[in-house]
Amino acid sequence: MQDQHELYEYARSRTKQKKRLYLHFIVFIVGSIFFYVLNKVLNVGNELTTDWFVWAIVLWAFFWVLHFINVFITKRFMGKEWERKQTEKLVSKQEEQIAKIKKRLEKETNLKAESEFYTEQKRTEPKKSETIKKQTITLIAAIANDNALGKDNDLIWHLPADLKRFKATTSGHHIIMGRNTYESIGKPLPNRTSVIITRNPDYKAEGCLIANSLAEALKIAKNDASPFIIGGAQIYKEAIHYADKLDITEVHHSFEADVYFPEINTAIWQEMGRENFTTDDKNKYEYSFVTYRKK
Ligand SMILES: NC(=O)c1ccc[n+]([C@@H]2O[C@H](COP(=O)([O-])OP(=O)(O)OC[C@H]3O[C@@H](n4cnc5c(N)ncnc54)[C@H](OP(=O)(O)O)[C@@H]3O)[C@@H](O)[C@H]2O)c1
Repeated sequence: MQDQHELYEYARSRTKQKKRLYLHFIVFIVGSIFFYVLNKVLNVGNELTTDWFVWAIVLWAFFWVLHFINVFITKRFMGKEWERKQTEKLVSKQEEQIAKIKKRLEKETNLKAESEFYTEQKRTEPKKSETIKKQTITLIAAIANDNALGKDNDLIWHLPADLKRFKATTSGHHIIMGRNTYESIGKPLPNRTSVIITRNPDYKAEGCLIANSLAEALKIAKNDASPFIIGGAQIYKEAIHYADKLDITEVHHSFEADVYFPEINTAIWQEMGRENFTTDDKNKYEYSFVTYRKK
């Protein structure tokens, strides 16, 4: 409202100024004719100088030009409105500058806090010989056409070659799984540390460790250089963001399923190796062992 009122007042005063200039112009034209008649027709003042009306018109024209400049330059560009706009521009430029400085300060403070955090972590971390240099988190899964994983909380196919590979790869390591997958297997797998993820704080399973989140499960496995996340669909979906590697068995067949592996985004994951196998006496479907690494 305040802004609208100011705009209205400004427009009104500009109209007045322009009207006055126009009136001045009309008076100037009439006055010039009047001077001409006095000088040339009625011979007034001719004894002093001839054609004095020209000087009078030039002088008046000069004053009219001054008036014009006042209306279209001085009042337009140096009036109160102009002053206000310039001040606003200046203030907004300064505000921009302040915001930039604030952002830079925030960034510097964050970087400082981050580096302090890592320095502190390094200080309290056990020595290299006591801990693992780098951990590789792997998602291991067998997926059929359309990323099918399983149905009715069970695997849909039987592929001994995949089970053999799974056993050989995961033996000696932590295997992290969702509660459904654990219940589908029904027991802890030998030579591995089974970690079950559940939201149930009272859940118990003999011979297994329980975590109430994926982060907690990874914490339990923090001293394992190569923990494996073995499913199912809910856990893969969450864990794929934390994984460094995918060990996938592609089963080249279509099955009816109710759980699926998340889409493997090739902008993030690079295929590092692929071995293709055809069917044989024990394995009824064609399959491939495929390894992906996070780019
Ligand atoms: N083809 C393969 O390689 C493969 C591998 C594994 C599994 N599978 C198949 O996958 C299916 C099972 O997968 P699914 O998705 O139904 O279940 P799932 O991922 O194995 O387990 C889901 C359960 O994990 C717990 N959970 C999930 N996210 C959690 C979180 N953020 N925090 C705490 N707890 C969490 C919940 O347990 P609570 O309900 O107890 O809270 C949830 O009900 C089965 O059909 C199985 O055969 C296939």
